[in-house]
Amino acid sequence: LPDGVRELLADRIHDVADYPRPGVMFKDITPLLADAEALCVLTDVLAGIAREHGATKIVGLEARGFILGAPTAVRAGVGFVPVRKAGKLPGATLSQAYDLEYGSARIEVHAEGLTEGDRVLVVDDVLATGGTAEAAVQLLRRTGAEVVGLAVLLELGFLEGRGRVERALAGAPLDALLAV
Ligand code: PRP
Repeated sequence: LPDGVRELLADRIHDVADYPRPGVMFKDITPLLADAEALCVLTDVLAGIAREHGATKIVGLEARGFILGAPTAVRAGVGFVPVRKAGKLPGATLSQAYDLEYGSARIEVHAEGLTEGDRVLVVDDVLATGGTAEAAVQLLRRTGAEVVGLAVLLELGFLEGRGRVERALAGAPLDALLAV
């Protein structure tokens, strides 16, 4: 990213100490979303990545991936497909379980939302441990679609999630616009 754009985005992601639990530094993107210029620039950058990879669909990961993914899809001129937490989608779904720090979680996608021939760019706000993104890539591949990349606003490098996500992506690019 050009320096000016990097600063425009980075300055509007605020650190919130001890949220949601003591010891965790939460990255709050709501100031960025509230800023018209920053939101527009971010959407344009993500849409550029989508076009570069020839994406035919944007997939957003609940919940903040929806906020970034839908305007990206509009800007890129393609459709949007949500990956939701379990039990939220009304139609026939494919489902993927993944491990959390304690216990496990499950994400789902409509089985008919994507088909063979679709080229999917996955969009989310933050890459932390990589568990969510890894599970999403595995889930999406089971639809028959090709995952052509994962784009996140912010990568938390110290949590070392990149390796597992890159393994899941199997050569498709992981673009992080910002990293700490
Ligand atoms: C956050 C974030 C990513 C995920 C990253 O979502 O938006 O989707 O966690 O963490 P990971 O790399 O360790 O898997 P969260 O599960 O908090 O859901 P929300 O957006 O619905 O609050």
